[in-house]
Order: sequence, then C-alpha cells, then structure tokens
Amino acid sequence: MNTKIINFRILGTKEAPLIAIESKKDIPFEIKRVYYLFGTKRNVSRGHHAHKRLEQVMICVHGKCRVILDDGERNEEVVLDSPSKGLYVGPVTWRVIEGITDDYVLLVLASDYYDESDYIRDYNEFKKYIETINKGGKNIR
Ligand code: TYD
Repeated sequence: MNTKIINFRILGTKEAPLIAIESKKDIPFEIKRVYYLFGTKRNVSRGHHAHKRLEQVMICVHGKCRVILDDGERNEEVVLDSPSKGLYVGPVTWRVIEGITDDYVLLVLASDYYDESDYIRDYNEFKKYIETINKGGKNIR
C-alpha cells in the first residue's frame, strides 16, 4: 500500500498549539495545490477515485472521517481525527472517505494542479489500469 501516516509536530504551547507544514520537509513532495472538503451531509461519502500520478496528504483539521484505501490487492482503513495526523496517499490508490462528521474539514495538500485526466473515477478502470502497469513491468507504486 503506497500510503503512510505522518505525525506532525505540534509547535507553540499547550494553551496555543500550532502546526506548520513545509514542502518536501514535513511531507515528501512539493505542494502545488491546497483544497479542503467540508459541509458534507450525513451519510454522504466522498472520493471514490484514484489518481494516476498525483500524491496527496490529507489532514482532518476539524471533526472526523474514515478513509478506506485500496491498492487493488489490499484494503486499509485509516481514521483521521486529529489536526496533527496526516495521511499520505500515493498514486494508484483508490480512496473512499466516509464516516464524516458534520463539523469535519478535510485539508488536502496535493503535488500538482487540478487535472481531470489524472483521475480514474471508475473502479473497473482502476483495476485495468493496475493490470496495464504490472504487464508493462513499470510498477510505479
Ligand atoms: P471531486 O473530486 O469529484 O470531489 P469528491 O469526490 O471528493 O466529492 O470534485 C468535485 C468537483 O470539484 C469536480 O467537478 C472537480 C472539481 N475540482 C476542481 O475544480 N479542483 C480541484 O482541485 C478539485 C479537488 C476538484
């Protein structure tokens, strides 16, 4: 699984904590885009896609959610419930975000600009894409 947990160091004081994230230092890539998901209605899940090349770090800066990860062979579930916990998600990883609380704000740091052609939005296509990579011997994961 091309994912990992990154625990960010809490700066400031106990009374006034702060977290700073620097490109290529606290996370393994240069940040080209930042976006955040919020205000998601109860029982609505998000994601349901993979990326061909994009790398991301997800941080639930408020509230809580669960990220279901799938690399075509294995599944993993990560609970994001702390602003100091980051989830690195590498390329070719199917992700579904669920168990979202009303108050959640999911901050996403991304290695590239928005590009719809980098998305794989169909699960069967995702499986086929993995087969193609493996056949070509270019396992990018
Ligand atoms: P989408 O990836 O479908 O969100 P989710 O699966 O998490 O609900 O994105 C929703 C819409 O926003 C879609 O039309 C693409 C657009 N979008 C951008 O224009 N720029 C971005 O950086 C992102 C992440 C999405």
